[in-house]
Amino acid sequence: MIPDKAPEDDVFHGAEEMRRGAHVPTFDKFKELYMQSIEDPDKFWGDMAKDFFWKTKHTGRFLDYNFDTTKGDIFIKCMEGASTNICYNVLDRNVQDRKLGDKVAFYWEGNEPGDELTVTYRELLTSVCRFANVLKSQGVKKGDRVAIYMPMVVELVVAMLACARIGAVHSIVFAGFSAESLCDRIVDSQCSLLITADGFYRGDKLINLKLLADEALQKCTDKGFSLERCIVLKHLSKEAQEISLKSPPAKRPCPDLQVPWNPQVDKCWHALMADSSDECEPEWCASEDPLFILYTSGSTGKPKGVLHTVSGYMLYTAATFKLVFDHRPDDIYWCTADIGWITGHSYITYGPLANGATSVLFEGLPTYPDVSRIWEIVDKYHVSKFYTAPTAIRMLMKYGSEPVQKYKRDSLKVLGTVGEPINPEAWHWYFTVVGDGRCPIVDTFWQTETGGHVMTPLPAATPMKPGSATFPFFGVVPAILNESGEELAGTSEGYLVFKQPWPGVMRTVYGNHARFESTYFKKFPGYYVTGDGCRRDKDGYYWITGRIDDMLNVSGHLLSTAEVESALVGHEAVAEAAVVGRPHPVKGESLYCFVTLRDGVKYNRTLEAQLKKQVREKIGAIATPDFIQDAPALPKTRSGKIMRRVLRKIAGGERDLGDISTLADSSVVEQLFQNRCGAGE
Ligand code: WTA
Repeated sequence: MIPDKAPEDDVFHGAEEMRRGAHVPTFDKFKELYMQSIEDPDKFWGDMAKDFFWKTKHTGRFLDYNFDTTKGDIFIKCMEGASTNICYNVLDRNVQDRKLGDKVAFYWEGNEPGDELTVTYRELLTSVCRFANVLKSQGVKKGDRVAIYMPMVVELVVAMLACARIGAVHSIVFAGFSAESLCDRIVDSQCSLLITADGFYRGDKLINLKLLADEALQKCTDKGFSLERCIVLKHLSKEAQEISLKSPPAKRPCPDLQVPWNPQVDKCWHALMADSSDECEPEWCASEDPLFILYTSGSTGKPKGVLHTVSGYMLYTAATFKLVFDHRPDDIYWCTADIGWITGHSYITYGPLANGATSVLFEGLPTYPDVSRIWEIVDKYHVSKFYTAPTAIRMLMKYGSEPVQKYKRDSLKVLGTVGEPINPEAWHWYFTVVGDGRCPIVDTFWQTETGGHVMTPLPAATPMKPGSATFPFFGVVPAILNESGEELAGTSEGYLVFKQPWPGVMRTVYGNHARFESTYFKKFPGYYVTGDGCRRDKDGYYWITGRIDDMLNVSGHLLSTAEVESALVGHEAVAEAAVVGRPHPVKGESLYCFVTLRDGVKYNRTLEAQLKKQVREKIGAIATPDFIQDAPALPKTRSGKIMRRVLRKIAGGERDLGDISTLADSSVVEQLFQNRCGAGE
C-alpha cells in the first residue's frame, strides 16, 4: 500500500473542495498569517480574543515572558489585567449570544450499543450551573483543587466545567489509573473534594471505580492527608435511572455492584443535584488564574502536575480546534481520546465547546462489541471530523479493510492523529481505507505541556507528507538544536525546542516551579525543550523522531521508565530494575523490563505474574510490562550507570551494539542476549 517513494517526497495536496469556505484555504495564506502571528502577536491574538467575552479588558502586552534561566525566573503571562470565565465563554455565550441553546453539544454513545444520550448546549449549561452550586454547597471555593476520577460520561464534562465556573481547579485522573496513582495526585495537589462514579464497563469488563476511589482515599489517610468529601455519580447502579440529564435507556446494564458507602464522606450526585438551583453567576477570573492541573509522566519518576491558566488556554484551544479541524457549524466532530488525557481536555471539552461544535462523546472501546464499532458510530452520527491515535489505527489495521468498508463513511472530511509519530504504513491505510483517499490527515504534534497543537498541518492549506507533523501552528516558533545548544539551519536533526511562548503553554509544575524550570528550560537557556527529537527535511517539513529522554510512548501514552522501575524495585524480590522500550507493531513501544533479583530468589512464572501485578497496582493497567527478563547483572559503565542504549538493543534483538568500550563487564551483554524474552517474535 505504501508508494515506492521516500516519505519526504510523498506529498499529498488537500482536495479542491476542502478549500471552498476554509478558514485557511491555501498554503500561501497560511504563510502570510503565520508571519503576522510571529511579527505582531498582539494583533494576531488580539483579533482572536474578540470572539470571547471579557469582563475586563487586558492592559499591556498580549504575552509577556522570560524563557532564559540565566536572566531570572521563568514566567509566561497572557492578557494580564483581563478577567473572564471559560465556562461562561463555552456555554452561556453560545446559548445567549450565539443562539445555540438547542444545538447538540454532545451525542453521548455508551459502551453498550443503543445506550445513548443527546445533550444540547442549554441542557449542558443547566447541569453545569446546578453542579457548580453543588460544589459550592460542599464548601468548594475559587482556587480549591478538585480531583475528578470518572468514566467517559457527560457528567465528567459537567464536573470539569462546574469547577471552571466557580474558579476551582480541576485535576482529572484518568479512570484507568490505579488507586495509588489517584492517591499520589490527590496528595500532590491537596484536593479538597473527589468526584467519582460507582462503576463502568470497558468493553465487557466491569470496573468498580468506587472501590478504587475508596482505596485511594484510605491511602491518602495513611499518608496523613485527609480528603473528607466525595461525590459519587451513580452510573450503573439502579438509581442511575434518576440521572439528572435524561433517563438512560434500558440498554445500560445494571450489574449488582457492591458500592461501599460512608455517609460521613460520600454524597450522591443525583441527590445533591435534585436540590440544587440552576442559576449560578460565574466567578470572574483573572487571565492567569489556574484553570486545571493535569499530571504527566516525568523522566525522574514522579508525575508532574502541569498547570494551565484561564485566558491563554481558552484562546489557544479554541483557535487550534477551529483552524486545525477547519471547523464548520454543521460539523459532527469526534475525538476518541479519554478526557483523562490532555487530548480530551483540549479537544473534547474546551476547544470544541468554545466553537459551539457538536461532538460525539464515546464511553466504549473501538473493539467492542466488534471491530466495526468506530465506523458504525461514524455513520450513525454522520461524523465529519475524526480524531484518533496511531495506535488505534494500527490496531484496527490488523483486521483489514472489510470491517471499515462495511460502513459508508461518506460524511468524513478531515482525519486527525495525535500521540506519537504515525508510521507511513498506518498513515496510508488511514488515508486510503478510512478516508477513501478524500480526507486530509492532520498529524498534530503537541504535549500536555503545550495545551494545544503546536506542529500540525491545516487541512485545506498544507500539503501533507505521511509521518510529518509538517509546520508550526500560528504563534509557535520551533528550532532544532544540537547537543551544544546551537540552532541548526536547513536540513538537520536534533532537539526540538520552541523559542517563544504561545497562549496555551503551561505556566508551571504545580507546587514545584523549580522542577518546571529545570525540566523544560535548564538544558538550553532561552528555549522551551520538548524532550522530543526532530528532523527538518529539504522542504522545511518537521518530522518528530520520538522522545530523547527516558520516556516511553506506549499506545500514545507517555510513561516514565523511572516510574516503572521504582514500581518493580518496590517488590521485595527485586534488587534492581531497568526498563526500556521495545518496538511493537500496534502499541508503538512495549515495556521490556530487566530485573536483577535479590540473592537467593529464583525467577519463575509466579514471580513474573506478581511483578506485573505490582506495576499495575502502582501505576495502572497501561503500564503493565509486556516482557520481564531475569537479568543476573545489568550492563553498566565503569561509573555504574546502566547503559540503557545497550538494553534497548538487547530487547529489540539488535546485535549491532555500537561502541560498548565503556562497559565495565561486556560478558553481561552476551548472557542477556541468550535469555532474551520473545526472541521468536
Ligand atoms: C508524542 C499528547 C509525534 C511526543 C497530546 C510528545 C507525538 C508526547 C505526536 C506528548 C505526533 C504526540 N507526532 N509524536 N503527532 N503527538 N507525540 O503529553 O513524544 O500525552 O512529547 O500529549 O507524545 O504526550 P502527551
